[in-house]
Amino acid sequence: MTAKQINAGILGTGYYLPEKILSNSDLEKIVDTSDEWITERTGIKERRIAANDVATSDLALKAAEMALKDAKVSPDELDLIIVATLTSDRIIPSTACIIQDLLGAKRAAAFDLSAACSGFAYGITVASQFIQCGAYRKALVIGAETLSKYINWEDRNTCVLFGDGAGAAVLGQVEDGYGILSFDLGSDGSGGDAIQIPSSGSRMPVSNESIEKRLNLIHMNGKEVFKFAVKAMGNTVKHSLEKIGMKQEEINWLVPHQANIRIIQSAAKRLAMPMEKVIVNIQKYGNMSAACIPIALAEAAAEKRFKKGDIIALSGFGAGLTWASCIIRWSKED
Ligand code: UT7
Repeated sequence: MTAKQINAGILGTGYYLPEKILSNSDLEKIVDTSDEWITERTGIKERRIAANDVATSDLALKAAEMALKDAKVSPDELDLIIVATLTSDRIIPSTACIIQDLLGAKRAAAFDLSAACSGFAYGITVASQFIQCGAYRKALVIGAETLSKYINWEDRNTCVLFGDGAGAAVLGQVEDGYGILSFDLGSDGSGGDAIQIPSSGSRMPVSNESIEKRLNLIHMNGKEVFKFAVKAMGNTVKHSLEKIGMKQEEINWLVPHQANIRIIQSAAKRLAMPMEKVIVNIQKYGNMSAACIPIALAEAAAEKRFKKGDIIALSGFGAGLTWASCIIRWSKED
């Protein structure tokens, strides 16, 4: 007889955004762009920017504290901390270890997860496996970024898109039939050049020359990523649904990665979902990579938009290239 699988679900969520707002009209003063172009082509109106002395862990800690409070879980109950980020405080130590120390989560294992904008859905999936098999009881998954530190403020193709923020979820055991019902993770490394920071690691260590050429900042082939994203975001949700024999119409809420409103609309169309069922906050925060999905999830939860039993689909795509989705039956009471 095999042991009964434990249901892993979200016990609490939290988020944090830096106070400083950078609007489209502020950007008009920096590069050759317009509020009209940014709004029409991306849906973004403003984004948050962390202060110079603020690092990813500072945002992550605040989101984590809110999620723990919401879940009524204390740091010493945590068995695992995963931080999904591409803007860790340093290459070593991991940002997850910094959070482990700041929270005083004495029993927790901790590591960072690198899957760019798909990172939070990857992280939820990884953490849920430990809970489902009974190895761990409580896990904290954070998506946190300070992308503003890697923006080329002279490149209008990228500087208008990104922002800073952090979102978090505490995972643990939930009732039968609730929690994370299915997931789909994928990658296509052949598209790796489409979004990259060329001079950031062992291939091309940061040097005076690479800084002069701005190779230490985000480079993106927007069109290529766009074409990939419109397919990937809907398809990954379909794959997650297929695994459990669930139909698109059963989804109550889509919580997508917030890279471009046109990508979100096209994913919703592929899934035959009206936009009223799609959580959108891109107009306020822009693309915050791994932080987008957990912030959208936590903000919607704080606004009491989800009811117990709702089916929620998380869907992300990003650098790697990567994609990821999870189907969740919401287990929290209003
Ligand atoms: O998180 C995952 C990573 N990122 C993404 O998912 C991004 C995916 N891609 C996109 O969202 C879109 O491709 C962008 C928003 C990046 C660009 O939108 P687009 O509709 O694909 O524009 P485009 O790159 O085809 O550029 C159209 C025109 C170009 O001018 P020309 O060559 O037609 O004269 C650009 O130079 O728009 C110009 N342009 C701008 N104009 C004003 C590009 N950026 C700007 C700007 N302001 N900020």
